[in-house]
Amino acid sequence: MTGAARERGIGRGIAQCLAEEGCAVAVNDLGADADGHALVAELRTLGVAAEYVAADVSDRSAVDAMIATVEDRLGPLDFVCSNAGVADWQSLLDVTEESFDRLVAVNLTGAFNVCQAATAAMVASGRRGRVVITSSVHVQMPFPEMAVYGATKGGLKGLVETMAIELAEHGITVNHIGPGWVQSFINDTSPSLQTDAEVAATLTLIPAGRPADPRELGRAVVYLCSADGEYVTGAYVRVDGGFVVGKY
Ligand SMILES: NC(=O)c1ccc[n+]([C@@H]2O[C@H](COP(=O)([O-])OP(=O)(O)OC[C@H]3O[C@@H](n4cnc5c(N)ncnc54)[C@H](O)[C@@H]3O)[C@@H](O)[C@H]2O)c1
Repeated sequence: MTGAARERGIGRGIAQCLAEEGCAVAVNDLGADADGHALVAELRTLGVAAEYVAADVSDRSAVDAMIATVEDRLGPLDFVCSNAGVADWQSLLDVTEESFDRLVAVNLTGAFNVCQAATAAMVASGRRGRVVITSSVHVQMPFPEMAVYGATKGGLKGLVETMAIELAEHGITVNHIGPGWVQSFINDTSPSLQTDAEVAATLTLIPAGRPADPRELGRAVVYLCSADGEYVTGAYVRVDGGFVVGKY
């Protein structure tokens, strides 16, 4: 479960929901994250095994080491959730090389690293595993000042669909979930969510009239990882309160 340490984060919600279903959970994030250790302690109170495993998902050798550590501490992988992500808001003409490289490295290369390393481990162990990537409504819906972020999320759709085809023979399903708006850390610097008036204007775009709770994304992941989700692969499960409906 990558990018899962932060309070209010989607990864945290997914980890909580999987643990409530009895899954042992490896919580990943950057560095010696105190929030990550707190989440592990919380998950253990649910009676499941949990470990914090730090790794930068954009670093392939760190990801390979993370997968080996997870299997060593928790046993063979059944599910992998690639969720770590970063965003910047810049108009196209102002996008810097540093920002472009960072977003691609974490959002796209990072997901590739995690999914390739994890599914190689699943194939090696003969597990009929499940892969769930956190993409975004950006897969369908472009937002100004987010060209690079949107491009990375579009790239994830291509990755998911090809992985779904190639890994079906191993009994591995591959899907992505599309959050609309969660008021997590990543959005704290969003230029369109800084004032009450801007938040109210954003809410008018969402038929449900509120942001998602991270656990609502977590329940979608539970479905995709459950026996009920066995026939679902290559799919995009939008959990956006209707944000995209009627617009694209
Ligand atoms: N919040 C939203 O409205 C929204 C909407 C659509 C998609 N998403 C996606 O959901 C995912 C989770 O984001 P969130 O909303 O929970 O925000 P968040 O900032 O709380 O979570 C992102 C996590 O990724 C971690 N991370 C960043 N770089 C990393 C790296 N190199 N290696 C490992 N971990 C790293 C961060 O420390 C953080 O814990 C992201 O992929 C994001 O793009 C979020």
